[in-house]
Amino acid sequence: MAKDITDHASGPNHVAIIMDGNGRWAQQRGRPRLFGHHAGARRVREIVEACPDLGVKYLTIFAFSTENWKRTQSEVAGLMKLFRRYIEKEAKALFENGVRVRFIGDRMKLDDKLVSLMDELEIFTADNTEVHLTIALNYGGRDEVTRAAQRLALEIEQGRLSHKDVDAECLSKFLDTRFLPDPDLVIRTSGEARISNFLLWQSAYAEYEFIDTLWPDFTSAELGTLIGNYGGRDRRFGAVTA
Ligand code: FPP
Repeated sequence: MAKDITDHASGPNHVAIIMDGNGRWAQQRGRPRLFGHHAGARRVREIVEACPDLGVKYLTIFAFSTENWKRTQSEVAGLMKLFRRYIEKEAKALFENGVRVRFIGDRMKLDDKLVSLMDELEIFTADNTEVHLTIALNYGGRDEVTRAAQRLALEIEQGRLSHKDVDAECLSKFLDTRFLPDPDLVIRTSGEARISNFLLWQSAYAEYEFIDTLWPDFTSAELGTLIGNYGGRDRRFGAVTA
């Protein structure tokens, strides 16, 4: 869902963030990596709560990638526990702040307890409209497109769809993000200039900001600055502006 090409002066409706640098933040303090992830989780609350004032309606955050399983077993287990705790601890505040929470990514590999907490939080916040928070958990852009292609192929195989119906709009409806507009601004913290398999299809026309700040140090004020920078950009979506 692209915005009107003349709408370049306004702020981003959908901000997506690759929250990187928790490990280095902890290392700088001589602490284990999970200490950094816990600090990162506290930052999520501040950023979500800042969205209404910054005019951000959709916020999508990359919490765990399909590649993150390659980390040590203890880091993965610690992160999974952190996600469970985050949902249990934050559900009330999210609800009271009018946040609708949804998850993207493949739930098949996640443990049952975490998946039921995710389902419950989605249902609990389903009527909220103030901010749409999407948490990418066991998410990878290629994995998402592959799963979409499999579902699409099944529809064709079973005669509910013809190959002639398949265009970009049709494919988008099979993606995990089918309920989301495309991101306008993608931010990655911690100085790495990579997109690491995040929202590959959806970010075709997004603006990018790669900043040096480590995620646990990222503040709502810095988000405000990046949003200010965005307002000055001229997004042409492949067209030419007068
Ligand atoms: C990348 O930093 C961060 C992650 C893989 C995990 C992101 C998780 C959080 C911010 C915590 C909680 C999130 C929620 C939604 C509760 P890194 O470990 O790769 O850092 P490094 O590059 O410095 O090693």
